[in-house]
Amino acid sequence: MHDKLTKKKGYGSFFSNVNYESEVFSNSKNSFKPVNRKLFYSGRHAIKYIIETIKLNTKINTFWIPEYYCQHVTSWLRKNYKNIETYRVNPLDKSHIIKPDNFVSENDVVLINNFWGISHCFLETSKKNVFIIEDHSHGWLSKSCVDSNADFCFASLRKSVPVPLAGIAWIPNGEKLPEIDLKPSAFFSEIWNNIILGMKKKQEFEESISINENLKNDFLQLVYNAENMMHSNYDLVKIDRKHEKLIELYLNNDYLSFKERNFEIMVDLLKDNSVFELVDRKSTPFGLTLHFKSFDKLNHFKNYLISKDIYPSLLWPENKSGYGYFINIHIDYRYTDEDIKFITGIINNYTDR
Ligand SMILES: Cc1ncc(COP(=O)(O)O)c(C=O)c1O
Repeated sequence: MHDKLTKKKGYGSFFSNVNYESEVFSNSKNSFKPVNRKLFYSGRHAIKYIIETIKLNTKINTFWIPEYYCQHVTSWLRKNYKNIETYRVNPLDKSHIIKPDNFVSENDVVLINNFWGISHCFLETSKKNVFIIEDHSHGWLSKSCVDSNADFCFASLRKSVPVPLAGIAWIPNGEKLPEIDLKPSAFFSEIWNNIILGMKKKQEFEESISINENLKNDFLQLVYNAENMMHSNYDLVKIDRKHEKLIELYLNNDYLSFKERNFEIMVDLLKDNSVFELVDRKSTPFGLTLHFKSFDKLNHFKNYLISKDIYPSLLWPENKSGYGYFINIHIDYRYTDEDIKFITGIINNYTDR
């Protein structure tokens, strides 16, 4: 086992620039491309498009979202819609059954999140005229995503697919989403261009022999600014045809297969630790997701990983207490077997003292 990440300099949450035809993807082709899919610049645009299409024929009463959910999406949705309420979920139990009959009324919308890509998205309801939307942002290509029978599905693709921006919406039975006239957006083209520039700088940073702190600061700043720009813009816009075409090419790769292989290697080597719990030992369409009961312990562990050049993502620490805290360690196509063994060794050496 080597003692440093082979690609050195660590990895953050966003991808560096990589060609869709890169050698790494040559044996991993994806066949799941929802019929009549519609692409957007973001997962948020995809949700908003679905809601707006429902509104064409229905006056929505209440729009229900999970009580535990991405805080950025929650606040963005609240800016767009005043009729949002939350319902309790169980992000630790993939077999959790959602029973909307306990809280919905006619013409409500329920957003179900496929937590960490492993939720079965089980639903028990007898109510008619309630619209079910599933969010597969963490589970692109997962079983629940591919086999969904919700009324509508969407995903933010940029978490799994190495493109600057991308969201997708589809109807699982293959029907076409109703058309809404959208305007092109120079604002989003600018964000796209800035993120591409950040991804290229990150690629250059990773490929250069020396550690160029200027390059690192540049790409971090570009991506940080882009996120902020997106967050404070609520327009539902049309994706540029050339961006759409590029995303389509990237969708030909099976990004899940790498995670499955890496997860298997990892789980085999991973030791139990009383400080955290592995959310699921069987599969992971997202990453290595660990659960902590205390925020301080989560923070301590996160800082330990960062000190070893491993950059995890915190999954929504600003949520209501009672759910605990989740952290995701990336295990996607960027990582070799040696990287995965190295990361697992680091996790196994962790103590909270
Ligand atoms: C579970 C989940 N759904 C949806 C989104 C929204 O995706 P986007 O950032 O592409 O708008 C996010 C984003 O952070 C997310 O974590």
